[in-house]
This record gives sequence, structure tokens and C-alpha cells, in this order.
Amino acid sequence: MEIIIQPTYQHLVSIAADIVKRALLKKPELVMGLATGSTPIGLYEALVRMHKEEGLDFSAVTTFNLDEYVGIPKTHPSSYHTFMETQFFRHVNIPVENRYLPQNTAADHGAFCERYEAAIARAGGIDIQILGIGREGHIGFNEPSSSLGSRTRIKTLTRSTLEANAPHFGGDIDAVPTLAITMGVGTIMEARQCLLLANGASKASAIASAVEGPITAEVPASVLQMHPCTVVLLDEAAASALKRAAYYRQVYANKLRLLGE
Ligand code: F6R
Repeated sequence: MEIIIQPTYQHLVSIAADIVKRALLKKPELVMGLATGSTPIGLYEALVRMHKEEGLDFSAVTTFNLDEYVGIPKTHPSSYHTFMETQFFRHVNIPVENRYLPQNTAADHGAFCERYEAAIARAGGIDIQILGIGREGHIGFNEPSSSLGSRTRIKTLTRSTLEANAPHFGGDIDAVPTLAITMGVGTIMEARQCLLLANGASKASAIASAVEGPITAEVPASVLQMHPCTVVLLDEAAASALKRAAYYRQVYANKLRLLGE
């Protein structure tokens, strides 16, 4: 794991956007795994800016979203379909047929999940997976106790996740869907590169457990310790419970020095 600690959220999203930009310039037909939620909003804003101002071209990109609620229509203002459309898709040139999101309205969820996995494989696998982290260490909606080998499936959301997401449903926890389709931990682990973003003190404990704790299904993000190419981008608050923060800073400073940046 490469741990990069930055003074502010803006700094961390600008580094994340730069990593995505470099990957896209190297491989125009990049396959991206996308996250929703508050954390990646600044990353999408930065990518939209690069598209509009620098001509960063997404026309050959394919995207797969991590998750979607079950039980609300795609057109619901808080669905992840709506989120992606508003925050990213309508502002860049990713062809509609290249955008995949879990379908919360599928008649047969099991069959849909198998088709989703098959579509990822057909696209050649995910090159770069954007991740946020839940307060209890989930990635996607793989809640604590999720199998570390799990594939795309339906999960029941924990009370902590319902509480965290209630503000998107008018503050009413009972309005938050209790089920979601999510890529599995095993699915995420097959991405060639993972970019985990976290900001704010509410993520500090989950980040400390994921980065420095034991690998355990209790903290699904901890399995990223086994991933060969994961970058964890943090602001100071999210990094505040890390024991080895000084070392991570030193490693990153040395990297920049070696790269002459
Ligand atoms: C969203 C997702 C979730 C979020 C996590 C953090 O697609 O997969 O794992 O990344 O719940 O959410 P925020 O960013 O809202 O704190």
C-alpha cells in the first residue's frame, strides 16, 4: 500500500485526478471502477475540469460502478444512477453504452449479478478502481463480515451505513434502502490498481484499522493490504489515527525527490 497524506481534501483529489489522467493518457480505452458518496465528488469535478479545459478524452473509456441501492427507482434523486449522471457522466464524453451500473430494478438479482461480473471480464477487467471507505471499514457496500472472496451480490446495509447515508434521504434513516447490490471484495481485489480516498475525522478509525490493523472480514478494506497496487489518499483528519504517519510522509517525500518533482 502506498499511503499519501495531504493537508486538505483538495490536495488529495488533485493527486487522485492526476493518477487517473496519467492512466487515461497511457490507455485511452481505460476501464474504470467508480464509487459514489461524498468522497469522490472533488475527483469527478477535477476530471470534468480536465475534460473541459485540457481536452482529456473519455470517449473510449468503460466504467463499472461499485454499487446501487435496491428498492428505489434509478430516477430517485438519491440513487447512484442519478449521482453519476449529475456529478460526472453528463459532463464528460463516456459513451452511454460503456457505462455500467448495478441495476436495482432487475427482475432476477442473482442473474443480474452474474451478468455484471461477466461484463467486467468481457471489458478486460478493471484497470483503476476508485474507492471510498465506510466508517466501519466497508468498501463498496461490503459490510463487516463480508467474505473477502465475495463477488457481486445483494448485501444488507448496517445501521452505521444507514445512519451515514440518511442525510441523502432528508435525514430520515427509515427512508434509506436497507439493501444494495455491490461488487464483491473479490471483484474489487481483481482491479489492477485501487485508489482509496478518505477525508475527515469520521474516517480516521476505519483508515487506521484498514491500513495498520490485521486483515479481517470485520474491516473489509483491510484486505487491500494484500492488493499489489493500492494507493491510499488521505487528508490530515482521516490520517490522524495512523501510528506510522511520519514514516508514510517520509516515503512519499522520498518518492517525489526521486521523481524530481
Ligand atoms: C459508494 C461506496 C461506499 C462509499 C463509502 C463512503 O459507491 O461504495 O463504499 O465509498 O460509504 O461514503 P462517503 O464518501 O459518502 O463517506
